[in-house]
Amino acid sequence: MPDIVISNEGPVRKIRINRPEKKNALTLAMYETMAAAIEDAGTAASVRCLLLAGSPEVFCAGNDLNDFVAMARGGALGAPIVRFLHALARCEKPLVASVGGAAVGVGTTMLLHCDQVIASDKAVLLTPFVSLGLLPEAGSSLIAPRLMGNVRAFSLLVMGKPLSAEEAKASGIVNAIAPGGELDAQALAVAREIAALPPESVAAARRLMRGSVDEIVARIDEEVEAFKIRLASPEAQKAFAAFFDRKR
Ligand code: COA
Repeated sequence: MPDIVISNEGPVRKIRINRPEKKNALTLAMYETMAAAIEDAGTAASVRCLLLAGSPEVFCAGNDLNDFVAMARGGALGAPIVRFLHALARCEKPLVASVGGAAVGVGTTMLLHCDQVIASDKAVLLTPFVSLGLLPEAGSSLIAPRLMGNVRAFSLLVMGKPLSAEEAKASGIVNAIAPGGELDAQALAVAREIAALPPESVAAARRLMRGSVDEIVARIDEEVEAFKIRLASPEAQKAFAAFFDRKR
């Protein structure tokens, strides 16, 4: 099975993150595949809605920390990451996410671009950016304060406080909670419901509701520049080493 599994279920394009042995941490190749699937969906008339999913026990453990270490040495953030973040922000089709378990780092911030987020009762959202010596990405520094208010966004993005499914729902990131066994079916039903609506009307409404995409993309790029500096910082190097040393 590939690390990213793309399937079209009628008008719904499902993008499933499938690297459970590494808690669905995202490598550059995985970002590339997801970006291409999202970009292609934008022009494919047969695709009416996208569904992002993970494994039953974990949605996504964020960026692969080995890649972060390599990028810090190279002084650049991988182009596939930026391509993926731009694709998410510029996506013209509705995005639904199905979150079965932990959603860490970009696993959480990608949810901020989604139109509907269904979480299992076991889901936990967590962005330990600052304790890793990093900072919020994926446009989250702009979107999260608008969505949940500055104080709750600060707890999540800066203090690294985890959100349970219930707390994420109260914060406006998640809109429905499903028992674990029913998550996939419920998320697919939501995606199908959206896909059955008149597509041009959905697109027009969505465009108005999302506001300026250029503003979000500009913030993503600003975050990327600051992120590159943080990646190479002694604080980040120390945090990455601590993660990989934790089982020794
Ligand atoms: N990058 C690279 N490898 C990762 C990873 C990541 N982001 N997240 C998990 N893994 C790997 C672990 O190194 C481990 O590999 P190993 O079996 O070869 O030792 C494997 O996935 C299982 O992880 P483990 O930590 O044992 O699972 P857990 O159930 O105890 O904890 C998490 C799950 C997601 C809470 C924990 O793995 C974690 O905190 N990961 C890092 C998340 C993170 O900081 N992401 C970056 C955010 S910016």
